[in-house]
Amino acid sequence: MKKILACCTALALMGMVSFGVATASDKGPADMTLESTIDKAKKPKPAIFPHAAHQGRLECGECHHAKDDAGKQVAYVEGQKIEKCESCHNKGETMPKELATYKGAAHAQCKGCHAKTSKDLAKCGVCHPKQG
Ligand code: HEC
Ligand code: HEC
Ligand code: HEC
Ligand code: HEC
Repeated sequence: MKKILACCTALALMGMVSFGVATASDKGPADMTLESTIDKAKKPKPAIFPHAAHQGRLECGECHHAKDDAGKQVAYVEGQKIEKCESCHNKGETMPKELATYKGAAHAQCKGCHAKTSKDLAKCGVCHPKQG
């Protein structure tokens, strides 16, 4: 009996440790502060993003996608490698102008959905809290 218990404890501990390691089912951080690093604005405007809260009501593919060799957008498939938005959405990539920055891609996606939900949710301060 003791042996079984010890074994269970060890397994439980291993499970806990693996939460910190990236795996195919990695859900990413629960809360993030998003900030441009490539096409930075002169005055940075970081955005807060409760990732886990959005995951609770949206499919991963609502926001994440990939691209093929021809540079075309490819729909999300479970377990795919998830890259930073900015690694594709930057001025150095061939993209429609309005999507060729982190700001452009994020506003199209984040602000776009928020605006559809309610006017208040699309206000700047919802994502860009005043910096003190
Ligand atoms: C639903 C969320 C959301 C709303 C609402 C929103 N933004 Fe953003 N915005 C972002 C995200 C995400 C980024 C990309 C990450 C970053 O740099 O902050 C961004 C980027 C920016 C940037 C570029 C910042 C940089 O450092 O390069 C500016 C400027 C900006 N937003 C201004 C505004 C203004 C002005 C409004 C209101 C009219 C607004 N945003 C509303 C999410 C939002
Ligand atoms: C509402 C939009 C949205 C939804 C829904 C969403 N994510 Fe994300 N996720 C993001 C954004 C934005 C980032 C930050 C990307 C960046 O830093 O450029 C991110 C980052 C991540 C990262 C970290 C990537 C890295 O290397 O920094 C992982 C992993 C991830 N998401 C997995 C998931 C999974 C799995 C789901 C579904 C269960 C999901 N996400 C649902 C928007 C979303
Ligand atoms: C691996 C490259 C890649 C990554 C990473 C990526 N995108 Fe895209 N995205 C594309 C391509 C390619 C298109 C199609 C552009 C066009 O119309 O030619 C696109 C289109 C879009 C569009 C317009 C079409 C649509 O689906 O609404 C939005 C908005 C967008 N991306 C936002 C994001 C955001 C936000 C992130 C990060 C969570 C992200 N993208 C990550 C490559 C990428
Ligand atoms: C497909 C729709 C959708 C997308 C895409 C989306 N959001 Fe949201 N977001 C929502 C909804 C709906 C709420 C309000 C939920 C609630 O009130 O419980 C919300 C809430 C939030 C909140 C908390 C607002 C508050 O005051 O409680 C923040 C911050 C936020 N979103 C930022 C972002 C950012 C940044 C992105 C893009 C990386 C994003 N959202 C993408 C639908 C979306």
